Amino acid sequence: MNNDAPLKWMINEPAATADRSEIIDRLIPLDATRRARTFHRQIPGYRISPLLGLDNLASMLGLGGIWVKDESQRLALNSFKVLGGSFAVYRYLTGRLGREEATFAELIAPDVKKTIGEVTFATATDGNHGRGVAWAAAKLGHASVVYVHEHTVPARIKAIESYGARVEIVPGTYDDAVRKVRADAEKFGWQVISDTSWEGYEEIPTWVLQGYTTMFSEAQEQLSGQGLVKPTHVFIQAGVGALASAVTAFYHNLFGADAPLIVVAEPALAACLYESARIGDGRPHSFPGRLDTIMAGLACGDPSPLAWEILWNCADVFLACQDYVAALGMRIYGGPLKDDPYIVSGESGAVTLGALPFITRNSECAPLREALRLDGDSQVLLLNTEGNTDPLYFRQVVWKGDHPVPDRHWPF
Ligand SMILES: Cc1ncc(COP(=O)(O)O)c(C=O)c1O
Repeated sequence: MNNDAPLKWMINEPAATADRSEIIDRLIPLDATRRARTFHRQIPGYRISPLLGLDNLASMLGLGGIWVKDESQRLALNSFKVLGGSFAVYRYLTGRLGREEATFAELIAPDVKKTIGEVTFATATDGNHGRGVAWAAAKLGHASVVYVHEHTVPARIKAIESYGARVEIVPGTYDDAVRKVRADAEKFGWQVISDTSWEGYEEIPTWVLQGYTTMFSEAQEQLSGQGLVKPTHVFIQAGVGALASAVTAFYHNLFGADAPLIVVAEPALAACLYESARIGDGRPHSFPGRLDTIMAGLACGDPSPLAWEILWNCADVFLACQDYVAALGMRIYGGPLKDDPYIVSGESGAVTLGALPFITRNSECAPLREALRLDGDSQVLLLNTEGNTDPLYFRQVVWKGDHPVPDRHWPF
């Protein structure tokens, strides 16, 4: 396979035999999804995000259905990320009150604030997680500091600042921003709300992961409204892997051995989970290099150890995708077939849709297609994890045509 092939893949053999119950019970105990959903429902403006069917595209690609959970419409925040950060902030604050549960209204009451004092929440981000944490801190009446790496575009920084956060720009990559915020939070007494874990810091990333399950419980309700018990496949994009591990744990919790096949998609230029699967010793490994992919939300070189534990044991396939795969996905979302709905999807949101035409139509991907058993009975669930969080670049891809598919790989 040549270097610009759209996808590289690793079939994850350990997933076929692992006993998953212990890890899954630990990360998503039975009650966790209910608690997350109960909290999210109380947020002013909360609505279930749409689940949209791309019926015409599904039949063109020989699939039974393509379902897109459109997180560009989540709470006017343009991304799913707020679900994790807000639930972690909520769990932290209820814990500080010595309680198991509290309502949103209780948490913003003046006497509660007096008991807890003002907390400064801190995090590192590629953009979307920081925006969610800043939003949650502001809504619950606390301060926030968000560390971004030096290549973060101004639109994403502005979006974070609009919720009152102080933004610090750190030289290097997302992973450097994580290391710096850890050190500074210790120095200044801030509370870190990270989506990635490290030794001795697992409780909060577990809450972040649990917060994401609101999305999947919504999707399950929406699918049952369509007469479907479950998707047969979930394609999920990954940076540090927290989102992918949440969907994996959620579906394994619900369906055990009958869970949908989970396909984890990363940028080829930042494929730390794919690389860890390729090395295959069961441990997470860093991806070297500058991580200069257009998929800014997925530009992470260090897997979250917590997420990796689930993915290594339960995810079925790891994909490393060229940037043009994401660009194709953005254009397909933006230029739908017939009466399929139009969806605004940013670089990190669109990569899973972009991968489908190559997998279903290109001869070089036939072994992957067979391994995944993708056919006319397949019901594929995708998450559009972000809208146009970088509007200038969105136009450059969708209007101007940046990152075209090389002719020899064109799937149509
Ligand atoms: C738009 C978008 N999609 C997906 C992800 C992946 O999430 P994770 O880092 O948990 O793998 C991110 C992470 O920031 C994101 O911003």
